[in-house]
Amino acid sequence: MAKERLDKALASVGCGSRKEVGFIIKSGRVCVNGQTVKDPSFRVTPSEDKLTLDSKDLRWRIGRYYMLNKPPDLVSACVDNLHETVLSVFPQSQRRGLFPVGRLDKNTEGLLIITDDGGFCHALMSPRRHVSKVYEALVEGKLDLNAPEKFKKGLVLADSTVCLPAELVILGEENGLTRIKVTLHEGKHHQVKRMVAAVGGHVEYLKRISVGSLKLDETLKIGEYRELTDDEVNMLKNEAKANDTKKK
Ligand code: URA
Repeated sequence: MAKERLDKALASVGCGSRKEVGFIIKSGRVCVNGQTVKDPSFRVTPSEDKLTLDSKDLRWRIGRYYMLNKPPDLVSACVDNLHETVLSVFPQSQRRGLFPVGRLDKNTEGLLIITDDGGFCHALMSPRRHVSKVYEALVEGKLDLNAPEKFKKGLVLADSTVCLPAELVILGEENGLTRIKVTLHEGKHHQVKRMVAAVGGHVEYLKRISVGSLKLDETLKIGEYRELTDDEVNMLKNEAKANDTKKK
């Protein structure tokens, strides 16, 4: 693999803009193979040299993959004129190139995957791949008695949107609200809220608890994130591939 400038290499793994990483390098926070390097133009071979920033290993692989326990006040976007985005949980120096995999509504909590890998994002969101997403909700109002069957058949919403068959499980009552679990195999706009409305309820609280086989890490407090393990990333990639209706 060809050598490249240290500042360019650091920027490409999301440590900041070229200008930002220039400052970081000059301040002595970066080591190459154990030696502090303060020259941004120092040349490195990404596949061979071991780089650290503040003593933490930097990965050379293209993809960075995180799970965030999304708080209810952040929008699922990279930039927004009015509200803080989900990227605000990351240090400024790591935000470059990252984006959320799909969207959760601003007031929805729970599992949101954040990556810089466009192919991975596409595989998880593609309607062709039907990667399931599971939500828990608290619902006001009386749900139709046959709501689970209606979900199973595939609901047609008030605006004629046709939904794929989904699962609705009634988990119980909580302070006058009904706790439900919904499994979707697609991702239409406000889909859980609209499907619940179609069977007589109103979603008061919504949290995503899994995407495919990836479950929200219960140890993450609201607003915390962690890197996905290689096994978790591979599991999701394999699931998306296995579900691909075009390849069947
Ligand atoms: N369905 C919704 O209604 N909102 C979300 O944020 C996700 C799924």
